[in-house]
Amino acid sequence: MRILSVDLGTSNTVAVLSAHGMPPRVVEVDGSATMPSAVFAEEGGTLVVGRDAERRARLDPTRFEPNPKRRVDEQTLLLGTDVVPVNEALAAVLRRVFDETTRQLGGEQPDEIRLTHPAQWGPVRRNVLLSAARLAGARCPLHLVPEPVGAAAHFASFPGRTLAPGQALAVYDLGAGTFDVAVVGATQTGFTVLAEDGLPDLGGLDVDQALMVHVGREVSHRDPQRWQRLLRPESTADRRARRALQEDVKAAKEALSRHPQTEVPMPEPFADVLVTRGELEALVRPSLLRSVELLSRMIAVAGLTPDRLAGIFLVGGSSRLPLVGSLIAEKLGVVPSSLDQPETAVALGAHQVSADGISMRTQNVPGPIASSGTVPATPYPPQMASTPAT
Ligand SMILES: Nc1ncnc2c1ncn2[C@@H]1O[C@H](COP(=O)(O)OP(=O)(O)OP(=O)(O)O)[C@@H](O)[C@H]1O
Ligand SMILES: [Mg+2]
Repeated sequence: MRILSVDLGTSNTVAVLSAHGMPPRVVEVDGSATMPSAVFAEEGGTLVVGRDAERRARLDPTRFEPNPKRRVDEQTLLLGTDVVPVNEALAAVLRRVFDETTRQLGGEQPDEIRLTHPAQWGPVRRNVLLSAARLAGARCPLHLVPEPVGAAAHFASFPGRTLAPGQALAVYDLGAGTFDVAVVGATQTGFTVLAEDGLPDLGGLDVDQALMVHVGREVSHRDPQRWQRLLRPESTADRRARRALQEDVKAAKEALSRHPQTEVPMPEPFADVLVTRGELEALVRPSLLRSVELLSRMIAVAGLTPDRLAGIFLVGGSSRLPLVGSLIAEKLGVVPSSLDQPETAVALGAHQVSADGISMRTQNVPGPIASSGTVPATPYPPQMASTPAT
């Protein structure tokens, strides 16, 4: 049995394969565990994805979409002069993953593909994902796994972390596009989502944007017109300069999780800017406080208190921000866990859950497609009956 799990994220896609009884492993694309979910439309409409798309974006940023998942509600994307259906853009990303998997399987196809999705996605968005997988050439059965269920299953797969039926885990997922929080309970047969919510305006991209504004405040007085041209570029040269600056700001943000300060290289005529972790934390603290309040509320909605959880599990690349862990510990009195690479937890965990082992107890994610049913919210653990998947 060959099972492929794919977490198509806002900025990164991660695929995990288990084949011929071997333990699941991350499928590296272009030598990396995470592939940028980016798409670039060549003249003539051919779609290039991943690192190749990012490289091509430097030549013509107008033909580039770094975060197609963020635009799942739009029918089409305008890339340069080409109109690209959004499911085709997502299909191009998935096709790259499927092709690499088939190559690594010596030409064989997977027998089952599991696609993860935000717990808050309704049937329309889930259908876009499914149609993208079919467009990308998937011919085997497809199963949908809510991202927090994948994360919880990954947590529970670690020795000493097994969740007994009746135990529950909070998943705090701060990725690139959104913040998603869920409380996931273990049942006799799998997992049930007891409570979930999210903040659509909080993710790594929003942190990048806040840091960009901060940098602008530091330097724009030197040449306000040039700064405006960087923010709203009209020429190819300005678009390239803005793209390079966005990359440098993102890299500086990530470096600040490891170092107390770093420099952002700036285009002429601006001087390079020194940024400190303290400055970044001041910028993001209000948003992160909102996320921790939502986490606290979801634990209460699930009928639990932080001390009764098996843990609070941090996933998503932006959960590497040290302030995330310290705010959770300060406000909830629980030191959260982050087990390994927070970007790969969801895809790795999707391997541990079968389609009929997932249920949803929250009200806002019913639908005919996802592996979900709906039962009324009651304090957890109740009589431990799991809702069968549909
Ligand atoms: N060391 C770090 N410090 C802060 N942020 C980081 C760090 N490393 C990665 N990130 C951020 O994590 C984000 C990517 O995380 P991830 O791959 O989990 O997101 P995603 O799955 O693509 O997004 P989503 O789950 O919202 O769809 C990027 O915004 C990236 O800048
Ligand atoms: Mg993600």
